[in-house]
Amino acid sequence: MRQLIAGNWKMNGLGAQLGEIESIAANAPAHADLLICPPATLIARAAEAAKGRIAIGGQDCHAEISGAFTGDVSAEMLKDAGARFVIVGHSERRQYHGESDAAVAAKATAAWRADLTAIICVGETEAEREAGRALDVVGVQLAGSVPSGAPIEATVVAYEPVWAIGTGKVPTNGDIVQMHGHIRARLVAQLGEGARKVPILYGGSVKPSNAAEILALAEVGGALVGGASLKAADFGAIFSAARKD
Ligand code: 13P
Repeated sequence: MRQLIAGNWKMNGLGAQLGEIESIAANAPAHADLLICPPATLIARAAEAAKGRIAIGGQDCHAEISGAFTGDVSAEMLKDAGARFVIVGHSERRQYHGESDAAVAAKATAAWRADLTAIICVGETEAEREAGRALDVVGVQLAGSVPSGAPIEATVVAYEPVWAIGTGKVPTNGDIVQMHGHIRARLVAQLGEGARKVPILYGGSVKPSNAAEILALAEVGGALVGGASLKAADFGAIFSAARKD
């Protein structure tokens, strides 16, 4: 299966940074799929700059189509601006905006309604891992955040341990393989055999120096990259490391 290498720009990026997207698009490899999720303000211009060579996505969406929700953006608006994907349930949304598993599931459903692919994020905190609860916590998040009947071809899951995001800390290869295997088993239990096709991305301090090692691991279907996706050179070094099989 082709790997998906996705960049999450978070609250970074002005018009001046569109050149990074042009450069990423110009160097897109044949062997992997690329996605950049810039801030909502840049989606339309990013989609133009990408010239169809890479996909553009949103970082969040509201569950409703439209209405009195000041400051929010619907999945339909993202689609209209040129997005093909949307990240839902990122740990920063769960942490700073109090998003529950049910809210994340509603957003994923909104993404599918708008014909977007939903990247549903899960991941444990450091305290949860230290308490030996990582597998359980992620299992509960999957049960609550991935709706039954999720369309396989429009669903991606991203495992992002909260303690690995922006910290330079990465789980051991063994821990990544164990968690991705666990996520695969849970997805198959929830959605059926078709769920073997759902890509499971790893995210959290992916950088040029560790990308090849992580992307070679069993059940790693790609990467969700924060800081190292902001510069075309770093992101290029990461997507070049995508598996070629
Ligand atoms: P970093 O790659 O900066 O650790 O961020 C990961 C992330 O949160 C991507 O969604």
